Amino acid sequence: MPRIDDAALDQLFRTARSHPGFADRPVGEAVLGELTRLALLAPSGFNQQPLRIVWVTSPEGKARLAPALSRGNHDKTMAAPATAIVCWDVNFTDHLPTVWPKADVRSYYPDEEARRGSARTNALIQAGAMIVAARALGLGVGPMGGFDRGKVQAEFLAGTGWEPAFLMNLGWPATEPEGPRLPRLSVEQAARFV
Ligand SMILES: Cc1cc2nc3c(=O)[nH]c(=O)nc-3n(C[C@H](O)[C@H](O)[C@H](O)COP(=O)(O)O)c2cc1C
Repeated sequence: MPRIDDAALDQLFRTARSHPGFADRPVGEAVLGELTRLALLAPSGFNQQPLRIVWVTSPEGKARLAPALSRGNHDKTMAAPATAIVCWDVNFTDHLPTVWPKADVRSYYPDEEARRGSARTNALIQAGAMIVAARALGLGVGPMGGFDRGKVQAEFLAGTGWEPAFLMNLGWPATEPEGPRLPRLSVEQAARFV
């Protein structure tokens, strides 16, 4: 497998930033569908794929989301072409017979707590891949933890096994985020070689 070139590494990681604002241009459902398909290709335990996404793109959807947003996240979310409610599905086990047909592994997740733990871990791995995939498609992303989970759960996810992990604005980058990138830990701080 060849190493990708420096321009691609810059776009995916080295110059990629969290975006507070985007061009005033829609992100169509075809692009969001392609992004969803790419994220679903990320690895997950027993191929369980617990990532779920509610794509909020309409003014009506944004109005339903608004009361759940922290003050600092409100205006940029209202203005973003698309906002993902990134979720995990506690009932991912319903799909296991299809996505892991080799054996019945549903008994490995005996109760809701076990299902939730696995769903959370694996959905967040898929969500990380989704961020990189969005950047690969030329999109900018603005992930957000500042929102009321209970309100999002009640307004968008009632009656499902989906639970919100974080929100993420998406759009076509227009301006660079203000200020330089904040410091990252060194390899010595973040890793050990044994
Ligand atoms: C799970 C998560 C939650 C975040 N929550 C917020 C948020 O609520 N509001 C915000 O403006 N940025 C939020 N961020 C963005 C981070 O502050 C940002 O990614 C970090 O400071 C690094 O900046 P950079 O991506 O531009 O290098 C969040 C990022 C992640 C991944």
